[in-house]
Amino acid sequence: MQYGYFDSKKREYVIDRPDTPAPWANYLGSPEYGAIISNNAGGYSFVKSGAAGRLIRYRFNEQDRPGRYIYLRDDESGDYWSASWQPVGKPLEQYKSICRHGTGYTQLEADYKDIHSELCYYVPHGADYEVWRLKITNKGSKARKISVFGFVEFTCESFYEQDQVNLQYTQFITRTYFKEKFILQTINENCLNAVNESRVETRFFGLAGAKVESYCGDRAKFLGNYHDYGNPVSVENGKLDGTLNYNMNPCGALHTTLELAPSKSAECVFLLGQKRETQAKDLIARYEDSTLPDREVDELKSYWHKKLGNLKVTTPDDNFNNMINTWNAYQCFITFIWSRAASLIYCGQRNGYGYRDTVQDIQGIIHLDPDMALEKIKFMISAQVNHGGALPLVKYNHNPGHEDKPEDDSYSKSTGHPSYRADDALWLFPTVWKYIAETGNTALLDEIIPYADKGKDTLFNHLKKAIDFSLNHLGIHGLPAGLHADWNDCLRLGAKGVSVFVAFQLYYAFEIMIRFAKFKKDSATEKEMTKQKDRFGKIIEEHCWKDDRFVRGITENDVTVGKKDDPEANIWLNPQSWAVISGFADDVRGKSILDLVHKELNTKYGARIMSPAYRKHAFDGALALLFNPSTKENGGIFLQTQGWIILAEALLGRGNRAVEYYLESSPAAQNGIADTRLVEPYVYSQFTESVDSPFEGRSHVHWLTGTASTVMVGCVEGILGLRPDIDGLRLSPAIPAEWKSFTMEKVFRGKKLNIKVNNPDGHESGCKKLTVNGEAMEPQPSPQGEGSPLEGNYIPASILKAENEIILDM
Ligand code: NOJ
Repeated sequence: MQYGYFDSKKREYVIDRPDTPAPWANYLGSPEYGAIISNNAGGYSFVKSGAAGRLIRYRFNEQDRPGRYIYLRDDESGDYWSASWQPVGKPLEQYKSICRHGTGYTQLEADYKDIHSELCYYVPHGADYEVWRLKITNKGSKARKISVFGFVEFTCESFYEQDQVNLQYTQFITRTYFKEKFILQTINENCLNAVNESRVETRFFGLAGAKVESYCGDRAKFLGNYHDYGNPVSVENGKLDGTLNYNMNPCGALHTTLELAPSKSAECVFLLGQKRETQAKDLIARYEDSTLPDREVDELKSYWHKKLGNLKVTTPDDNFNNMINTWNAYQCFITFIWSRAASLIYCGQRNGYGYRDTVQDIQGIIHLDPDMALEKIKFMISAQVNHGGALPLVKYNHNPGHEDKPEDDSYSKSTGHPSYRADDALWLFPTVWKYIAETGNTALLDEIIPYADKGKDTLFNHLKKAIDFSLNHLGIHGLPAGLHADWNDCLRLGAKGVSVFVAFQLYYAFEIMIRFAKFKKDSATEKEMTKQKDRFGKIIEEHCWKDDRFVRGITENDVTVGKKDDPEANIWLNPQSWAVISGFADDVRGKSILDLVHKELNTKYGARIMSPAYRKHAFDGALALLFNPSTKENGGIFLQTQGWIILAEALLGRGNRAVEYYLESSPAAQNGIADTRLVEPYVYSQFTESVDSPFEGRSHVHWLTGTASTVMVGCVEGILGLRPDIDGLRLSPAIPAEWKSFTMEKVFRGKKLNIKVNNPDGHESGCKKLTVNGEAMEPQPSPQGEGSPLEGNYIPASILKAENEIILDM
């Protein structure tokens, strides 16, 4: 079953059946103000933090309610409906609707009994409030008088958990007022005259472009007893009763009427935000200018379309194109901005940036907005502790040089993170490498950046400290200890148990430090890193390779996890893919272990994280046992890992396999099986249930997942083969044999590259000839020793003009 389609020209996903198998959401807003909205207007908004700045209510794990509702009522017949199909939910035979989710806006269009409505929700670029612009048109032959009711349910206070659970307090700190064009909600208003004025919060819900006929600030009065959002008594009555809440549950509800002659249209605008009274008044006045919303939505479109336009690919596969050009890219920005803070699943408990997640999320946008990435790289480097470890959770108001750390009780109390994770700081290496390779901004290596607790240093030395942290946290056999977790939150290998995943991360970190040291002509560091890399290579070879595979870890009791004859979890995906990504496995071994992965772990929905799932034979630290088999880390298809297997196959030049894995888990490729998939077919989710589940193929935990950035890297660097380094760009696509050609338009260091790849003989990889502006590129080894023999697929940045015509013949 299909519920929508991609409008690639408009960069929109259009839902043309509102009864989707789950709420399909979009993100609006900026780091200052976030809003999540579903195709039925469900969702919530928050200022800065989903956990501590929650403005409106949303009940998780329920029927996608409440939300941002506009009810329309024919005042002659008394019949009423909502401009989003839900919450009134008119029969779909009579009620036609489409939802256009776009980049920073969501437009709902509906037709019911000759009234056509268009409702556009958006947060103006860089603003900290939201706009709902309603336009209705009378498609009939007789005049109509339509009442419009805007409704929103405020939280009683900004701390989500408090609002949800501490009712004996939160129900009695708030009240609402009516101020001519808006409802004003106050929280702790008595503190206005007291010392702690900062505790006072005011939110507003206002109307512009039309007269307020009636209003209500009290949820119970708006809904009516034993009524709910689908049949509010006030809408049934056609008038709001003017009750303002004093204690209990507040809301913002405003009513106006729009008179419509046949084929005539009328519009108005509702506004929501956290503002003081005068600010709200001034803001609403600005929206009396009915041309403002269109201008603002156009500004949003051009802002996002320009950003996403830094890479445009046209391959034979529209699903691939739609995801790379628009939706995977937009999702990368959303995870970059919101980390794992607020979705329709993550209810905002995590009040800050998870270190590993954020440093990985940065990778997804480097090719589109390196400047934005740079700021976050420096921010995360400043969240590294002086001994090289990384703060597992970085607060939004992180204050470098003055932060507590996991060794301090205060830190684990305030963040819930008692100890370090073995992988966190090691993500800095691929992220910093990708940034410097994309931009050529090698000066960053010498930039002085503070540590979270004390002291400051060059970024290059911060990286050295990260390696020191790993070398000071070695476990059994001299391999890196797994500590509290090692990317896999369900693997607790502890201080002595060791992680093969982290071993490959560390091996790759040495490789990247060698490249930086070579560039800096720092032969001492280059020598030291080369010595360490070789030493570790030998340890990995001796202890991590068993029979035909790399194992997953070794416990402190020297029990190997993930060996061939283990009854459960005897093959793990990540050690195999990372053996290739880190450069440890050569071509021959790389191909054999990835063939084993394809044979043992691949399914029609993607490769499983490990198999068989744990049921009876889990070691102490295998927390995945908590999950049902084939769910999440317990043998599910953990979608972030698909990005790594795609990249690994591509690095080996196996385009067919790389794209096979891509399409198995690509949301767009599952657009036609939405009832199986459940979640949005335009963004990645965290995992898909696999073979042990009665619901194989069902996906969960939408939007905020590392899958977005990891698959983006797997596609851009892997499949499309855009592999920059400090001095230029290697063009090394790994594509399906059936792709006879494709094109790319890429902005690289401010220069435009128009790239055409020809593959008439159906190769999966390789380069016969590469011409740049008509000049053939001479075969040469990559300057940074990417290990590939002489190949003619390298473009020195120094030869690039403002606009370049590049042709690669495979
Ligand atoms: C989700 C977490 O956000 C991420 O940090 C972790 O790597 C994966 N789960 C795997 O456990």
